[in-house]
Amino acid sequence: MRWPGLIDPHVHMREPGGTHKEDWSSGTAAALAGGFTQVLAMPNTDPPVVDNRSLTMVHGLAEKKAHCDFAQYLGATPDNAKTACKLAHKSAGLKLYLDQTYGPLRLDSMALWQSHLQAWPADFPVVAHAEGRTMAAVILLAALSQRPLHLAHVATREEILLVKAAKERGINITCEVTPHHLFLTIDDLADGWREVRPRLGTGSDVAALWENLPVIDCFATDHAPHTAAEKVGENTPPGFPGLETALPLLLTAVHEGRMFLEDVSNRLGKNVRQIFRIPTQQDTWIEVDLEAKRTLSARHMHSKAMWTPFEGWPVRGAVQTVTLRGKKVYQDGRVLSPPGFGKGIR
Ligand code: NCD
Ligand code: ZN
Ligand code: ZN
Repeated sequence: MRWPGLIDPHVHMREPGGTHKEDWSSGTAAALAGGFTQVLAMPNTDPPVVDNRSLTMVHGLAEKKAHCDFAQYLGATPDNAKTACKLAHKSAGLKLYLDQTYGPLRLDSMALWQSHLQAWPADFPVVAHAEGRTMAAVILLAALSQRPLHLAHVATREEILLVKAAKERGINITCEVTPHHLFLTIDDLADGWREVRPRLGTGSDVAALWENLPVIDCFATDHAPHTAAEKVGENTPPGFPGLETALPLLLTAVHEGRMFLEDVSNRLGKNVRQIFRIPTQQDTWIEVDLEAKRTLSARHMHSKAMWTPFEGWPVRGAVQTVTLRGKKVYQDGRVLSPPGFGKGIR
């Protein structure tokens, strides 16, 4: 079966500053292996991407190393509301970290949230990491600023019901859900390994996400690689790799009759394109074998994380080939494009 290339609006490429976890080459190789031909990279790198200088630096790295097409988010800081908005057209969007997660970026005061929501042009995306009550608060502030807002990784029953209620009131929000929040509960993984933000939910949280599939605009992997060595023990960094497991997990759900094929293709394609205003790629498609039976294992993956929370899971569906702008860039487990073949989207 032939599909347009998939788009992931939420990945962490870890470069600069965390290249032992991932870099632009390994991360975008993982993207191609997962069927993604466009990725939007988060700004919680070291240094974080928060101004023209850091954005230009990352664009330079990605242009040299990326295997698939890319855009880079800008991170909101206490002092960059007035300057970041001038870079909107060059970035994937503005990222607001409103709760504690991996990396130093966080905005605590609602006055700061408001200054960013008002300054950033309304036709360029703003994405918020906002959990629970924080999510309720930022939805209200976005509505008061009369601008669209995209909510990253909705994970709990109360969050998805909040998003549903806000949408029913006509508030202009969209949301993404990750495969790990759809397929795992907090009891499925051991201490350390299970650390992720937002935390994995209970069975009731997971059920609520499935019951409210129509409320979910897109799926995003939140590919957040940390090495296995870092995930062992106490105080482990939150985050899971996800680019190479998302499509097979979702296709397995289709196989099991839990969703339709269009539920998957729209949420990894068309809907993402609309929300983030991403141009279509010419002569770009993936070939997917819907019937292929395999077992997920980090051994076959391209990410530097070298582990997956889905190790040993039997799945249906495999990406056979990826063709990007007329060139075959991936076939049966091997990346064929040179680093630097990927182009900036903005
Ligand atoms: C992300 C990371 O490691 O960068 N971690 C995570 O648990 N999701 C940060 C984030 O997306 O919140
Ligand atoms: Zn987050
Ligand atoms: Zn993330």
